[in-house]
Amino acid sequence: MAYSDKVIDHYNNPRNVGQMDKSSQEVGTGLVGAPECGDVMRLQIRVNPETQVIEEAKFKTFGCGSAIASSSLATEWVKGKTVSEAMEIKNTDIVKELSLPPVKIHCSVLAEDAIRAAIGDWKKKNGVGETANTVEPVAAQ
Ligand code: FES
Repeated sequence: MAYSDKVIDHYNNPRNVGQMDKSSQEVGTGLVGAPECGDVMRLQIRVNPETQVIEEAKFKTFGCGSAIASSSLATEWVKGKTVSEAMEIKNTDIVKELSLPPVKIHCSVLAEDAIRAAIGDWKKKNGVGETANTVEPVAAQ
C-alpha cells in the first residue's frame, strides 16, 4: 500500500510522543482500541484550568502507520485549542489531511475517539459539562 508523504513524515517524525501523569487534575487521558485490527491508541491532553485551552498533548500508539500519523496529527491539532474547539475535530479532517485510503479510515476514527475520550476524562475529573448535579436541597420551612 502506498502511504502519502504526510503519513510517512508523521511516521518518521511523530510529534508529541510520550506520556503525562494521568493522576494530574489537569490531564485527561483517552485510551481507545480499534475492533477492526486490535490497534490501540492513548492520547493525553493537559488543559489550562482558567482558559480551558489544551496546552500540551501526548500520544502513544500501538498500531499501523496511519494510526501513528493520525494520532501525531491529532496532538498537533488539539494544542492551542479550547476543549470545545477540539471536540469539533472530525476523523474526516484527518483523512483529508493525510490522504488516507478507504481501508485506513478506521485509523483516523481511532484518533477522533481518542481525542473525545481524553476530553471526556478531563471533564469528568473537573466536573465540567454536567448540569444540575449540585443543586442543594431546599430545607422545608
Ligand atoms: Fe488498525 Fe490502522 S490498521 S488502526
